[in-house]
Amino acid sequence: MSPSTPALPDPTALLVDAPEVRAALQRAGWSSSALDELLGPSYRGHLDRGELSPLLRRTRGSGELARLVRALVVGGEVAPGTLPDSWVRDGRAVTRLQAVPHDGLDVTVPHDPGSAAAQVHPEQVLGVGAASMTLASATPRAVVGSTLDLGTGAGIQALLAEDHSGSVVATDRNARAVAYTRLAAALNGTGLDARQGDLLDPVRGETFDLVVSNPPFVVSPGRRYTYRDAGYQGDDVCSRLVQEIPTVLAPGGHAVLLVNWLHLEGQDGDERVLSWFEGTGCDGWVVQRELAAPEDYVTAWLRDTDETAFDDLYDEWVDALRGVEAVAFGIVAMHRRVDGLAPQVVLDVVDQPTAATWGEEVTAHFARRVLLEGDLLEARLRLRPDVRLHQVATPTADGWMADNQLLQQEAGLRWSGGVDPYGATLLAACDGTQKLGNLLAVLASSAGLSQADAAEQVLPVLRHLVAKGFLS
Ligand SMILES: C[S@@+](CC[C@H](N)C(=O)[O-])C[C@H]1O[C@@H](n2cnc3c(N)ncnc32)[C@H](O)[C@@H]1O
Repeated sequence: MSPSTPALPDPTALLVDAPEVRAALQRAGWSSSALDELLGPSYRGHLDRGELSPLLRRTRGSGELARLVRALVVGGEVAPGTLPDSWVRDGRAVTRLQAVPHDGLDVTVPHDPGSAAAQVHPEQVLGVGAASMTLASATPRAVVGSTLDLGTGAGIQALLAEDHSGSVVATDRNARAVAYTRLAAALNGTGLDARQGDLLDPVRGETFDLVVSNPPFVVSPGRRYTYRDAGYQGDDVCSRLVQEIPTVLAPGGHAVLLVNWLHLEGQDGDERVLSWFEGTGCDGWVVQRELAAPEDYVTAWLRDTDETAFDDLYDEWVDALRGVEAVAFGIVAMHRRVDGLAPQVVLDVVDQPTAATWGEEVTAHFARRVLLEGDLLEARLRLRPDVRLHQVATPTADGWMADNQLLQQEAGLRWSGGVDPYGATLLAACDGTQKLGNLLAVLASSAGLSQADAAEQVLPVLRHLVAKGFLS
């Protein structure tokens, strides 16, 4: 840390007056939509880029919301009487707040001042970023008894889980993050059990129905920032989490975590990440979202966090990735089965844009295994209600000639794929009432095929459509 690195506030000292701040926020009508209206819809971009002038201008008013937002969101001067004394130092609020909308919820997240691109402290507790929302979007939101948020930071995943969990435990190695999570709970009027400790140490011997984790997954040399660098070799922190999280997963429970994994020279990267699941007793689903060349990976992280020291750190980091062909990023989901089926792991490359939330796909993915391992001809399959059939037709002398049909999911992972007219007809008939074998018999006779030939041709396609969730 250089001498100019800003001193950090003590979030524990803010806790005592948190109820007073919560009451002020409520009185003022604090919400993410109120902030959008006050600051303008592009205000998050201004904040990220440190362009405060437009935001200071919009919060010149004397209303309570404008004064609170100016102090706690923009970081401008605190007008007298706006905040308790414990929250103010040298005329500025000592912490910052974010109003985060997600899937019908609106949570308030306190975090340290300072953006990632500016110089930050090694123990900085960042606010909610893109990776936080990637995990939130992939988290199943079915009601569960207990949830663990491992590496809670400022508490965003724990706050969102609170809405659908009987109890939530939030853990972090950084004592300041634990204090921030307690502060977040107080500001949101919820109860959270926040504990300090390394990885699974604070919860050994306990089990949870849902485990979520946005861990310090970045593959970097050394341990520069607690929120980003685990200090492990390569991607070892991610493989360790995949191996150990099952020890705290209740039977039937699910885990969702963000990971990086390395594609090493001379090794198959997919096989490498799939091998992490061996011996865990869990089904696994790896959803690959990105694959970056080492130089691009380093550049992206330096821009995100160490912009001021880019040139000093670039060579050291790229050298540390010697032998790495690419770095993959994705979401790992796990499921502890209770039906005795042998664990299975699947990797999907998802490079299409997904729906804003797709956590329900995680539970559905594992549930479909029962179908795929059973006799599909006996199943009464149902077409997903959000599937649409798109037709492309070419003009001919005889009018429009349909030459291409595309199935498209409108929700979830938004898979798409071509289908022939027979397949399209079969899918439309899948309304959950008829066994697939019966539907196939009708299709076979209309196509002039034997039922066995029709099954041989169609079943692999149907299996694929079940695997991707078009049918269930
Ligand atoms: C990328 S941040 C995620 C914060 C938050 N959960 C979110 O989604 O925005 C990773 C968090 O893991 C914590 N952490 C780092 N090393 C850890 C360790 N060994 N055990 C537990 N938590 C750790 C960091 O302090 C940081 O809060």
